[in-house]
Formats: sequence, C-alpha cells, structure tokens
Amino acid sequence: MSSPIDTNCMTLTRFILEEQKKHKSASGDFTNIMTAICTAVKAVSSAVRRAGMNSMFGMAGGQNVQGEDVKKLDVLANDLFINMLSSTFKVCAMVSEENKDLIVVDSEHEGRYIVCFDPLDGSSNIDCLVSIGSIFCVFRRLGDGPVSTKDALQPGDQVVGAGYALYGSATMVVLSLGGGVNGFMLDPSIGEFVLTERNMRIKPRGKIYSINESYESTWDQAVKTYVHSKKYPEPGKQLYGARYIGSMVADVHRTICYGGIFMYPATKDAPKGKLRLLYECIPMAFIMEQAGGQASTGRGRILEIVPTDIHQRSPVFMGSKDDVQDVIDLYAKLA
Ligand code: AHG
Ligand code: MN
Ligand code: MN
Ligand code: MN
Repeated sequence: MSSPIDTNCMTLTRFILEEQKKHKSASGDFTNIMTAICTAVKAVSSAVRRAGMNSMFGMAGGQNVQGEDVKKLDVLANDLFINMLSSTFKVCAMVSEENKDLIVVDSEHEGRYIVCFDPLDGSSNIDCLVSIGSIFCVFRRLGDGPVSTKDALQPGDQVVGAGYALYGSATMVVLSLGGGVNGFMLDPSIGEFVLTERNMRIKPRGKIYSINESYESTWDQAVKTYVHSKKYPEPGKQLYGARYIGSMVADVHRTICYGGIFMYPATKDAPKGKLRLLYECIPMAFIMEQAGGQASTGRGRILEIVPTDIHQRSPVFMGSKDDVQDVIDLYAKLA
C-alpha cells in the first residue's frame, strides 16, 4: 500500500543543503535566507487566499515611491519579507519596491548578504483573484564598513541566487542558485515546498508573445515591427498566440513553461520601461538565462547593467532564446 505522504520528499531546504554541499565555498547562509523567504511566502500565500474573507482586498492608503496606490496585501507582504529576512543574522540590507530607501539591518542582526525583493508583484490583479507573485534576488556584500546603497547597486551577473513565488492555482517557488532552475510546489498538508519541476528548461522557440498591446502607439519601431510579424507572419512563418496576464511573475512563469517571449518595452509614459531592474528584471533575467533563455533590453543583456538607482527601470524582452534574438536583431537593424 503506497503511503499518502512521500516519506523521502525532496524539500526546498534539503535541495539547498545538497546544492551547498556541491559548492564547497557556500556556507549555510543561503539556506537561512531561503528559509526566511519561504516563511514569508507561506504567510503571503495564506493571506492572499483568505484576503476576501479578511477584508484584505483594496487599498492601504497612500502611494509608494513608484507613485502607485499601495494595496493592503503589498504592505502585509512587505512587512513579512522585511521581518523574516532581518531576523536571519545573514542580511545587512534590503531593497524593496515598497521602500524608498535602502533598508539597513541593525548591527546586532547584520550579515553579509543583500536581498532585493518585490514583495507582491501584480498587485492590480489581487481583487479579481488573478495570479500574483513575489520576486527576489540575493547578492553577497562586496565591501566593508557601514552598509550603504552602493552595496546594493550590483549588476545581475553578481547574483548568488534568485527566485519567485507564484500564488496561482497552487503556490510554487521557482529558484536558481546558478546551477539551473528548479520548481517547488507548496504542499499545504505538510507546509513544505516540495521539488516537483526538476531542471526547468525553456524551449529555444515558442509560439506565444506576451505584451500590453494598449501601448502600441508608443512603442519604438523595432517592437512595432516584431509584434506585427507575430500577428501577420510571412508565408511559412508561425502565427503566434497572444497571452498577457499583467502580473510579471505569471507571464514569465508561463513563458518558461510553454516557451515564447515576454516583453515590457519602453513606452512614451515609461521611457525606461516600467519594470524595476533590481527586484523584477534582474531576478527574472537570472532565472531565464539559467533555464536556457535570454533576457535583453533589446540592446544588451539585462544582467550586465550596473544599476545607478535602487528603483531604476529597464525595458525587458525575455524568453526563448530564438524569439528574444529576433527582437535583438530588429533593434540592431532599426536602431
Ligand atoms: P507590481 O504589482 O509589483 O507593481 O508590478 C506590476 C508590474 C508587473 O507585475 C506587470 O508585468 C506590469 O506591472 C503590468 O503593467 P501594465 O499594467 O502597465 O501592463
Ligand atoms: Mn507596485
Ligand atoms: Mn512587480
Ligand atoms: Mn510589487
């Protein structure tokens, strides 16, 4: 008789411990950081699924540094990430979408890592029950002395780990420590994240493009030409399907699973694009490259950008490497 519980399930914690054994250099620090993040994600997942019953829909009041109306769940998720990470003794500073300035951990609790996170991504989708997420990446502190914003302004190639949580039909954490991408489903019956998608890889070319087409009039010519070619393909070329959820985590996760391309280009209102480099573009670009895809601004790799501001934005084209290459080639041709 098979046991209803896998008595040897590969939990996220076990997986990280094994990964760290492989990379002799790594200490258990990352395990502590991921444990804190998983606690925050479990609590956010529970709050998201009960929001309608606990009057947690709607606005918290006030605007964040992005000029966005802050939702009640944005605040709850932000507090969870900050409190759980501050108490690991492994983190010296954090960058959050919801905090204007660098969050410095008090000297008694400080460690050697910097965590950048979007505590709740896709907040505009909360009240209509469409999938939302959390996004994070982890840097090792390079300098010494009092921690400052410049410790956080590192290019994505310096990332030691990155991941996202998707609060969808199930709650899943997708994570990369630099040795590929793995997906862990939350098993509510044991409160653990269990490995269900080992070594996630994105196909070299897909058949789905994902972009907010309402901004078409403000796109530059390369994007207009690219999207048009997906809708009106040349003879013998593939007609693509269109999918756009409006939560980056959900659109990127679908892109990894099914292939294709996710785009948030520069528009007239957002000349640098809307998505934030440190806690949306870099983590997702790291994961996408680790899964065998590409992540570009159209003119260069996202992971090579050296940030100058903790909330700076970047245009983003990420997904199947051949699909993203088509956009890069158009930028080169039409620049
Ligand atoms: P956040 O909710 O963290 O502010 O992020 C919202 C972002 C991202 O999730 C999504 O891809 C994008 O906003 C959608 O923007 P548009 O509504 O302009 O398409
Ligand atoms: Mn926001
Ligand atoms: Mn976001
Ligand atoms: Mn957010």
